Amino acid sequence: MRHGLPVYLWVLHTDSKESEMAETMMNSDNYTCADFLELNDADLFAKARAFAPFYADWNAKGTCSYHRLLTSACTGRTTIRDRLSGREREFIVLASNNYLGLNNHPEVIEAAQQALARYGSGMCGSRFLSGTFDLVEELEAELADYEHCESAIFFTSGYQANVGTISALLRSTDTAFIDRLSHASIVDGCHMSGCTTRAFRHNDIEHLETLLKKTAQKSGKLIVVDGVFSMDGDLAPLPGIVTLAKQYGARLIVDEAHGTGVVGPTGGGSIEQFGLHGEVDIVMGTCSKTLASTGGFVCADKAVVDYIRYYGRSYMFSASATPAVVAGVLAALRVMRREPQIREKLWENIRYFHAGLRKCGLKPFPDPPDSAIITVEVGDDKTVRDMSKRIYEEGLFVSAVQYPAVSRNHGKLRISLSSLLSTEDLDVALEVIARVGSEFDVLGKSEL
Ligand SMILES: Cc1ncc(COP(=O)(O)O)c(C=O)c1O
Repeated sequence: MRHGLPVYLWVLHTDSKESEMAETMMNSDNYTCADFLELNDADLFAKARAFAPFYADWNAKGTCSYHRLLTSACTGRTTIRDRLSGREREFIVLASNNYLGLNNHPEVIEAAQQALARYGSGMCGSRFLSGTFDLVEELEAELADYEHCESAIFFTSGYQANVGTISALLRSTDTAFIDRLSHASIVDGCHMSGCTTRAFRHNDIEHLETLLKKTAQKSGKLIVVDGVFSMDGDLAPLPGIVTLAKQYGARLIVDEAHGTGVVGPTGGGSIEQFGLHGEVDIVMGTCSKTLASTGGFVCADKAVVDYIRYYGRSYMFSASATPAVVAGVLAALRVMRREPQIREKLWENIRYFHAGLRKCGLKPFPDPPDSAIITVEVGDDKTVRDMSKRIYEEGLFVSAVQYPAVSRNHGKLRISLSSLLSTEDLDVALEVIARVGSEFDVLGKSEL
């Protein structure tokens, strides 16, 4: 220990920061989670020991907005028990990806309950070795139909769907091209495969083309993009990407996690929005957003899906989703396809809220909105934390996104809307954001 600092914290910071560190090492305001990523110490737990006082202070200050303790269903409103005071209160929810509110739909609940009664609580093994319920194959057939593909494979999570599919297809001699703002599951799939990964600037297809041009012709090429970006809610420029994929002989995966049921004339996702059905090699989706449960899927032609079934490690070496989950997803998919009025209500809410933010003097992104995700840039990490604490005190449950999830000092509020929110909920939320925004002087300043 030097100056009261454990060696691992000392090593992390330059000498010029030494005195500041000595005074403030427990002050979580001065650190982010990224500071505890790379600590060189022979004891691997040194990272955890260094993180502990930061985490304790962060929680004690009430500025850690993660892991809220929910004590009721998360619909348009939910109850949260405060971890510090133990007090339970009702919150308006702007932090869930339950876009069509299907988690509480009577048909979905009924289907999950019936599956639980008929098939029991779980499969207790991988589908590969322990067998698969007929219900899962029924779901796969409907997912393939929804995505206009020949075949589909269902994974236990969306994360596993990306990791398993990408790592099944790529080898060390291949190259993956991914947007810099790609979801972590895409990044991790590329790392796991051992391929070369080239990240292009966000939505910059000229940069993508430059990278494609520089890549040896004989290297297998895979472009993977989020159709709707999970942090900012903007769309990928899919038509240009499809053209480049064809031109350079690359295969293309589009992740529809946030597009499913929200984007496109019939809620068919970003691929439908651009009229590109049949032009994308692999469509990936999750069941943890609009489909209001857990699970992920990949749709493609049958040969590709069959290959992934045998070479996707996250599929083979992980237990099957529970029957209640599968039945809930299947019911949600059917409701989503049958009841367009739910999506219409969602879009009414998206437009109303977006316009309301503008009226408050904020600059919501994207403008106009592309999906149910809207962001408002707030600024430095401390302001984001303090502002999100105030918003929470006022009864709004909103995600505050900080470094390293976004670049340093570009923290933002990530607002995700649901059809379940009433106009009254939206008005209250707007009033709170405007009032707290003016307290922190961020009105009119947000810009991406
Ligand atoms: C774009 C994107 N892809 C994949 C995933 C992973 O999905 P899941 O949460 O179902 O594992 C997410 C979820 O956060 C996502 O936003």
